[in-house]
Amino acid sequence: MDTQLDLTTNIGGIRLRNPVMTASGTFGYAREFETYVNLNRLGGIIVKGLSLAPSEGNRPPRIVETACGMLNAIGLENVGIEAFINEKLPFLMRLSTPVFVNIYGRSVEEYAALAERIEDVDGVVGVEVNISCPNVKAGGVAFGVDPDAAGQVASAVRAKTSKTLIVKLSPNVTDITAIARRVADEGADALSLINTITGMAIDVDKRRPVLANITGGLSGPAIKPVALRMVWQVCQAVDVPVIGIGGIITACDALEFLIAGASAVQVGTANFVNPRATTDIIAGIADYLKANEINRLSDLIGSLKVLS
Ligand SMILES: Cc1cc2nc3c(=O)[nH]c(=O)nc-3n(C[C@H](O)[C@H](O)[C@H](O)COP(=O)(O)O)c2cc1C
Repeated sequence: MDTQLDLTTNIGGIRLRNPVMTASGTFGYAREFETYVNLNRLGGIIVKGLSLAPSEGNRPPRIVETACGMLNAIGLENVGIEAFINEKLPFLMRLSTPVFVNIYGRSVEEYAALAERIEDVDGVVGVEVNISCPNVKAGGVAFGVDPDAAGQVASAVRAKTSKTLIVKLSPNVTDITAIARRVADEGADALSLINTITGMAIDVDKRRPVLANITGGLSGPAIKPVALRMVWQVCQAVDVPVIGIGGIITACDALEFLIAGASAVQVGTANFVNPRATTDIIAGIADYLKANEINRLSDLIGSLKVLS
């Protein structure tokens, strides 16, 4: 790669060697991709969402392919925070790539307890908080659809961590900028968006939902225009860095988010189709910068030209 090219970017005080990160839940705990990807070339690694206790997730069927995407209702299956720290983190600590832990809880207290547990753990530079989860105390309504509930989670986690705090926003809302402003005001260092869009699929022969959970989260190219619109809106609304997620398959997709104002991107569903998607995208971004004689990625970020 051209040594003059500066692909670095900054997310809440963490310097990434390039803007391409892995999206939570689509890259396991990274070791699963070791044979396909030089993990030390990635900008950042975000691991599968972790809860206090291990979780088996939902009953199958949990995944279905849709037009230009997929629906999943994995139900946040994970090994739990203790097994992550003891069994998964030692491998990740041998890498030079910054590692972020994605967390979710069923109550504000659970989020806070997870942040507290991670606070003194070496090898984790930041916490990404998934607020697209049901709040059991509010009848199962997701934290991320209500500015007050989202703000409470951000504030509780902020109080427990000095690590970089990324709050991951849900797209299943009317005005995502209201949620973005609130969590930024509560101390988030960066925002990532979008999580999956709630959808469903029906088997017409059986007249049953395809997913055992009935509904699931839509991801992949089908959601990219929605994600791009939301990222662009949030970039206008807050001062903290924004990480764009949603249907990024190619370098061109990633470039759209960067031009819209995202400081970095996460690659999700693409990893299932092409396990080398992340490094292909990094190479493609570098090629674009060279072809357009842009030496620094920072000069591209937010360079969208809008006629006024
Ligand atoms: C199978 C699967 C599992 C996921 N698990 C998580 C998770 O544990 N935590 C989380 O915050 N997001 C999770 N996501 C959402 C992704 O990180 C990402 O926000 C979403 O899929 C949109 O990006 P994409 O279109 O590139 O996949 C998951 C997505 C998929 C497809």
